[in-house]
Amino acid sequence: MNLVLTGSTSGIGWETLLALLPQFDRIFLPVRNIPKAEKLIQTLAEKEKIVLIPMDLSLMAEVKKGAEIILSQTQEIHVLINNAGGMYPGGKRSKEGIDLSFATNHLGHFLLVQELLPALIKGKARVIQVSSEAHRIAQHPGKDFSLKKSSNTLSAYASVKLFNILFTKQLVNNYASDGLTSYALHPGAVRTAFGSEASTWAKGLIAFTKLFFISPKAGAATSIFLATAPAKSLKNGSYYKNKKLSITSTLAKDSKLAQALWNFSMEEIDRVLGNASPDKQEENDGIL
Ligand SMILES: NC(=O)c1ccc[n+]([C@@H]2O[C@H](COP(=O)([O-])OP(=O)(O)OC[C@H]3O[C@@H](n4cnc5c(N)ncnc54)[C@H](OP(=O)(O)O)[C@@H]3O)[C@@H](O)[C@H]2O)c1
Repeated sequence: MNLVLTGSTSGIGWETLLALLPQFDRIFLPVRNIPKAEKLIQTLAEKEKIVLIPMDLSLMAEVKKGAEIILSQTQEIHVLINNAGGMYPGGKRSKEGIDLSFATNHLGHFLLVQELLPALIKGKARVIQVSSEAHRIAQHPGKDFSLKKSSNTLSAYASVKLFNILFTKQLVNNYASDGLTSYALHPGAVRTAFGSEASTWAKGLIAFTKLFFISPKAGAATSIFLATAPAKSLKNGSYYKNKKLSITSTLAKDSKLAQALWNFSMEEIDRVLGNASPDKQEENDGIL
C-alpha cells in the first residue's frame, strides 16, 4: 500500500505520518523544505519507507515536476492526503503570480491530483482533503475563483476551504466510476504552526485562541480515520468532523459551483504552465 501525504513537516500532517507509517509500504512526502523534512524523519524507526519529494505546492511547475518523480517510482497510489495549507495575507501572490491562499490550499493539490490520476485510479485511491469549518463563512466567489478581487486574509482562507469540499465532490462525480473515493474533513481547532504566515492581526487572533485548541495528535484523528476505515463504513464525497459524517454549508453542496471551479482550475493550470491558447487567456483575463 502506497501513501502520498502533503504538509507532513508540521502539526496535523506530522501526527498523521506518525500514525500511518506502520500501515503503509511506501510513503511519498511532497515537502517544500527538504532539510527540515530530512531532520524530522531521522527520528523515525521506519524511515526507509519514506521518499521525500521536493514540492512547493504554491508553484505549479514544482508540483508537476514532483508528481513526475512520484510516478517514476510507483504506478499505484492507495491513499492521497491533501493536508498542506495555511492562512496567508489577502492579496499575497506566489512567484507564479497566483494568490497564495488559492495556490497552496487549492490549485497545487488540484494539479497534484490531475498529474497522479493514472496511479490513483490504478490504486482505486482515497483522496482526502483537509478542509475546515471556516468554509461556512465563505461568500459565493462569482467568477473570482482565484481571489483576484479579495484582499482579506480570513475570507480568502474561507473560500479555499470551501473549494476543498467542492473539489472533493467533483472528483467523486468525475471518477467514482473508476473506483476513486474522496472525502473532506475538518480537523478541529488545532494547536499547530497554523497561521504563522498570516497577516499580523490574524496571527495575534490565532495566538490568543490557540490557548483553547486541541493537540496536533487529536487534530490528526479524522485524517487517520478516513485513511484507514473500511470503505463500506464511509460515505463517498462527504465531509467529516470528529470521525463522523457532518453537514456542509449550502454553498459547498452547489454542484454547478463545483463544476465551475473544476473548469476554472483546469484553465488556470494551462495558463500558468503555458499550455493555454491565447484566446483562452484573453477570455480568463476578461471575466476576472
Ligand atoms: N490548525 C487548525 O486549527 C486547523 C483548522 C482547520 C483546518 N486546518 C487545516 O489543516 C491543514 C494542516 O494545517 P496545520 O494546522 O497542521 O498547520 P501547520 O502546522 O502550519 O502545517 C502546515 C503544513 O503544510 C506545509 N505547507 C504550507 N505551505 C506549503 C507549500 N506552499 N508547499 C508545501 N507545503 C506547504 C507546511 O510546511 P512547512 O513545514 O515547510 O511550513 C506544513 O508541513 C491545513 O490545510 C489547514 O488549513 C487546520
